[in-house]
Amino acid sequence: MKLAVLVSGRGSNLQALIDACAAEDYPAEIALVLSNKADAYGLERARQADIPTAVLSHKDFADRESFDEAMSAKIEEAGAELVCLAGFMRLLSDGFVRKWRDRLINIHPSLLPAYKGLHVHERAIEEGARFSGCTVHFVRPAMDEGPIISQAVVPVHPTDTPDDLAARILEQEHVIYPRAVKFIAEGRVRVSAERVLINDHAVPDGAMSNPAG
Ligand code: GRF
Repeated sequence: MKLAVLVSGRGSNLQALIDACAAEDYPAEIALVLSNKADAYGLERARQADIPTAVLSHKDFADRESFDEAMSAKIEEAGAELVCLAGFMRLLSDGFVRKWRDRLINIHPSLLPAYKGLHVHERAIEEGARFSGCTVHFVRPAMDEGPIISQAVVPVHPTDTPDDLAARILEQEHVIYPRAVKFIAEGRVRVSAERVLINDHAVPDGAMSNPAG
């Protein structure tokens, strides 16, 4: 399955996907890395792996819709069948989300539906959460919402700074994102009544990960 990965920054999740795709038996390849920022380090990672890149600056477009249409054109041109958001820091138009429905996934550094949006680690620590984690989900128009494909849980330690917690979660992001993409590329994932079934099961083996338990 051909992937387009959308990044705005560091691109460590992109790197996890690049590394996974390097394995011979991995059922996906990255056809395009697209960024809205010319200086995103993710672009450099793509170049080093000989993956085609594209940069589209939202500042060059009159509105969100026309920017998103230009992105769709690039993604289609590359022949991508699945769009993976990996730290892409732009809200997407309803039109884009509709067009790529069930072919557009995101990774978010919390156990959704808890802690949508930004500053998730600060909020989890501030509110005394004992556990946090990360979620891979299909994208719907509302931010950080949509059918959950995979989650991993990590403990929140009393002494954690937001950076400590972010690092613990990021390590798990790099595990569950390539795994979720693998399940999709193998054709094992479907959405039914806004719930994800893997191999037609609601509680799939391997889609949950609880390293602490
Ligand atoms: C990750 O924490 C991801 O969950 C969130 O943005 C961050 C991107 O990090 N959506 P990176 O660019 O993949 O290193």
